[in-house]
Amino acid sequence: MDRIRIVGGNALNGIIPISGAKNAALPLMIASLLTSDTLTLENVPHLADVELLLRILGNHGVDVAVNGRRERQSGSYARTVHFTCRTIVDTTAPYDLVSKMRASFWVIGPLLAREGKARVSLPGGCAIGTRPVDLFIEGLAALGATMEIDGGYIEATAPKGGLIGASYTFPKVSVGATHVMMMAASLARGVTTIHNAAREPEVVDLANCLNAMGAKISGAGTQTITIEGVTSLSGARHRVLPDRIETGTYAMAVAMAGGDVTLEDTDIALLDTAIEALRRSGAEISAVDGGIRVIGHGDAIRPVDIVTEPFPGFPTDLQAQFMGLMTRAQGVAHVTETIFENRFMHVQELARLGAKITLNGQTARIDGVQRLRGAPVMATDLRASVSLVIAGLAAEGETLVNRVYHLDRGFERLEEKLTRCGAIVERISG
Ligand code: EPZ
Repeated sequence: MDRIRIVGGNALNGIIPISGAKNAALPLMIASLLTSDTLTLENVPHLADVELLLRILGNHGVDVAVNGRRERQSGSYARTVHFTCRTIVDTTAPYDLVSKMRASFWVIGPLLAREGKARVSLPGGCAIGTRPVDLFIEGLAALGATMEIDGGYIEATAPKGGLIGASYTFPKVSVGATHVMMMAASLARGVTTIHNAAREPEVVDLANCLNAMGAKISGAGTQTITIEGVTSLSGARHRVLPDRIETGTYAMAVAMAGGDVTLEDTDIALLDTAIEALRRSGAEISAVDGGIRVIGHGDAIRPVDIVTEPFPGFPTDLQAQFMGLMTRAQGVAHVTETIFENRFMHVQELARLGAKITLNGQTARIDGVQRLRGAPVMATDLRASVSLVIAGLAAEGETLVNRVYHLDRGFERLEEKLTRCGAIVERISG
């Protein structure tokens, strides 16, 4: 099993290209099931989760053609991928595929809308909480579908004549359930209004793509989304938005290790709350042409309290990384997780590097220490793993991060991007 070896202590200087967003690419790829025409996506990141979803979509009948790889001086490359689903050949999404990645469950929306039925295994994914699917069941039922659970599968059936537009209020904000409702309602008869919708930029990106395919969606990015159903959708060409979590992660790495880095091909407007927290911690951050410049001072990190919340609040997907940064703050910081009940797996591993963290329910108290020392560590989810990389960059000596496959799910060529900026980071195979 691959490991990442980090020798801490070097500042980061240079350019880091930001990839297309994993969490936008996944629902966009799934949207290709809604049309028999070709959906072309630009800026698709090369990640294990994307490759897995390609396999899952292939199972339903999507033909995939990849091209347009382009190298730039800074080392970034972006893939253009063409998805064509002339006919859906299978409406079942099996356990062995869906159990590996929660987002693959989202195929339920397009399959149900286009074929009138779907049989989808209950999902898996990162071990960060129980992550139920009740909101999907209730939401699709509101559109007239019959939803039954049988043998670990959800069997969804649309009424004769297809899904019917309705008004539905989510009792809790869910990114995935908002994606699925938008996709399903796009092909429903009549108008659907979703209240208490997720407002994440990835929801807006999906709505923009669906509209380019002929859907009639308004209000994405607000709490109320209105979808006027259409009888069919066509192909389109769409560029995946930049990965705000990757952007924030590298910004935190610079704040932690010190240095001066330009994050290229990204947009400061995607992560206001995290930028604000980073600035309060002492990092200097400014918008530059086509990206963001981050200057970190390494040794003079101020403690900042954060609480994770749905967008536009502080993202749960940056919580572990921010906690990594706070381990070296000059004082006490508190990090409260409100989205997932089990997203503190990094705490005990950060402690192995010398961090002082006490957990009290959903809040972690971090007593900043002057220095961290390298150690072997491992993590059980993607963002937790990268928080250990960030801490390792600032720790004295060698840190070995095990279970690198978690990182490969969401960070494209991490070690290469960091090495180009002066870090000592290498992948050890086997
Ligand atoms: C998306 O997951 C992201 N995944 C997650 O990123 C991210 O952490 C999360 O949104 C929150 O921002 C992708 O976009 C692929 P939710 P999602 O439904 O859609 C509860 C990463 O590291 N809930 O918004 O699965 C749920 O348990 C990942 O890239 C229900 O109770 O998250 C959670 O507490 C991990 N019932 C809360 O809602 C449901 O039916 C928000 O989850 C659905 C969700």
